[in-house]
Amino acid sequence: MQPRTPVTRVLVIGAGAMGSQIALTAALAGYPTTVQDVSECQLDDAAAQLRDRTDKMVASGKLAAEQAGQAHALLDFSTDLDAVAPAADFVIEAATERLDIKEAIFARLGRLAPPHAILATNSSTIGSSAVAGASGRPGQVCNLHFFNPVLVMECVEVVRHAGTSQETVDTALAFARSLGKAPVLINREVPGFVANRLMGAVQKEALALLAGGVASMEDIDATAKTALRHPMGPFELMDLVGLDVVDYIAQATHAATGDPADAPDASVAALVRAGKLGRKSGAGWYSY
Ligand code: CAA
Repeated sequence: MQPRTPVTRVLVIGAGAMGSQIALTAALAGYPTTVQDVSECQLDDAAAQLRDRTDKMVASGKLAAEQAGQAHALLDFSTDLDAVAPAADFVIEAATERLDIKEAIFARLGRLAPPHAILATNSSTIGSSAVAGASGRPGQVCNLHFFNPVLVMECVEVVRHAGTSQETVDTALAFARSLGKAPVLINREVPGFVANRLMGAVQKEALALLAGGVASMEDIDATAKTALRHPMGPFELMDLVGLDVVDYIAQATHAATGDPADAPDASVAALVRAGKLGRKSGAGWYSY
């Protein structure tokens, strides 16, 4: 079935690493895109990082300077949700991973966005059913889960909740494809969806092998890369994702399943307590 709703303007809420790259991806695909964040400073940082990113892409010959210019001309930044939401056809919320914050955003979007607009969340841990009611339009709500780094990773998980309409699913899949992504459909909300469950299984095994003294972290990472052709080893990947995020995902999964096997890993939690969050803080499993 072809989606009936053409997407003409995208709104991304949250200017962190995920939100800002989602917005640039949309702009590179030709969508006028607004990034909204409560923090002016965060928006300034995001704009500067996206400029740096496209400069690098142009320098390496991956992007024509003209395309970069066109994408930046399609991007705008705002702190004022009331002003920007009424123009959006497709909203992707990538704000802080807290249910109260997301509920408040979806309630506002429900009032502000045009009646046909689809409201998606990029959350990896909060299924859209948790915010669908607050929006007042549950059929038009789903997860649209991107992967880090968004500009590079092809996968987007489109996760429907029990009340997501087929039209919303079709539009979300078509929209993700129009961004040059390879979306997959997740038919029901399970903690971690598919990708983070797979990633979590590998991480859990890697942590157990390290704790058991079977191999060093470097050799476990090397094995994943040279025996399995993973682009990164599990410890390197935890550092890329952020150890705080890894720990948070484990906490959320454990809270949802109650399974002791899903309990957060003590060594990851200890690194987080020590301020070692991975690449973004300069140190995690490795030093950067
Ligand atoms: N942002 C944007 N682009 C980036 C980037 C970043 N942070 N880091 C690297 N890139 C780009 C580079 O610019 C380069 O682009 P070109 O080929 O167009 O020049 C390309 O990625 C390759 O980069 P490098 O040559 O520097 O390094 P690499 O070949 O080792 O690739 C990688 C880096 C793409 C990160 C690769 O190692 C990889 O795919 N790793 C696995 C990443 C992964 O599994 N992500 C999923 C995490 S889980 C998640 O996100 C979900 C969640 O809910 C937590």
